[in-house]
Amino acid sequence: MYTSFDETTFDKIITLLKSHQPEFVSGEKLSHTLSLSRAAVWKNIKKLRLLGYKIESKPKIGYRLQTHTNLLLPWEISDGLQTDIIGRKIYYFDKIDSTQNFALELAQKPHENGSLVIAERQTHGRGRLNRRWASPKGGIWISILLKPNFESSYTSLFPMVTSLALAVSIEKTLKIKTELKWPNDLTIKGKKIAGILIDASIESNKIDYIIIGIGINFKIKPEIVTKSIKSQRNYGITTLIKKDQNANPIELVQQFLFELEQSYNRVVSDSIGQIRKEWSKRSSTIGKNITATTTTGILKGKAIGIDKTGALLLSNKGKVQRLLAGDITYKN
Ligand code: BTN
Repeated sequence: MYTSFDETTFDKIITLLKSHQPEFVSGEKLSHTLSLSRAAVWKNIKKLRLLGYKIESKPKIGYRLQTHTNLLLPWEISDGLQTDIIGRKIYYFDKIDSTQNFALELAQKPHENGSLVIAERQTHGRGRLNRRWASPKGGIWISILLKPNFESSYTSLFPMVTSLALAVSIEKTLKIKTELKWPNDLTIKGKKIAGILIDASIESNKIDYIIIGIGINFKIKPEIVTKSIKSQRNYGITTLIKKDQNANPIELVQQFLFELEQSYNRVVSDSIGQIRKEWSKRSSTIGKNITATTTTGILKGKAIGIDKTGALLLSNKGKVQRLLAGDITYKN
């Protein structure tokens, strides 16, 4: 595991190399600035290469950074991150069972509000309703721990707030428009590109902590993911970026953390109206006739809006019902 707060040698080397691009930095300068031996500098350069950085080395001249990595390394996410709370501490794994499970452990510790957990792949990714979430390399699998001072009723707002922040950041960084499917899926032409899982702990009617898990099919092979979850109810999966396209996942994550914090601050200041409006504008659910599967049974009706708690409003024979959780399918 690498963290943004104690893996500082890599961070310092990369920062120095970046600031000199396209020039070389001498081994002596690196060694002096970082108070490391020349051998230790070389050892770290080799490790950085394994992380995907292309670093040229020339005897008697030094090192030059040629290309950056696309891995979601903590120091890359931190570099230029415009948030105050979210993502200020980052835990990075090449492989983990589930970022959500790791964040659950962090929730028991102090000083972890806003912590971000990232993995390149998950072996036991969790989806909503206890489903398996296939998480191969190429996706963005992250969890964010928040300890807000909110009433428990605010929990149902997080899917709406998070899915909107993600849709906006995808629009801004990749210029791709996505649809929002209630409660928390992002789709393109009806196929899923991202899902959100909320784990919350409530004590005495207050949120003790909330863990937002976000899975983005950034650059994956849809057929492989579809195969591995064949037995589950799903309506098709797609990838945000096609295999022959190039896009930077780091930029998307940074933008998303920023948008999420902005929306989170709006929730803090109780101005949810704007979030609702923006969410509804991008929603593929509003106006559709839907069938909802809930823990208490099946509901049918026309989706006419969402209320200020994030609940879906279903109209059927002149009666309006609130749907707080469930799975929906469209009838037309
Ligand atoms: C869904 O079912 O649509 C929600 C999927 C959420 C998946 C993400 S990936 C990162 C985080 N870790 C997990 O194990 N699950 C969430």
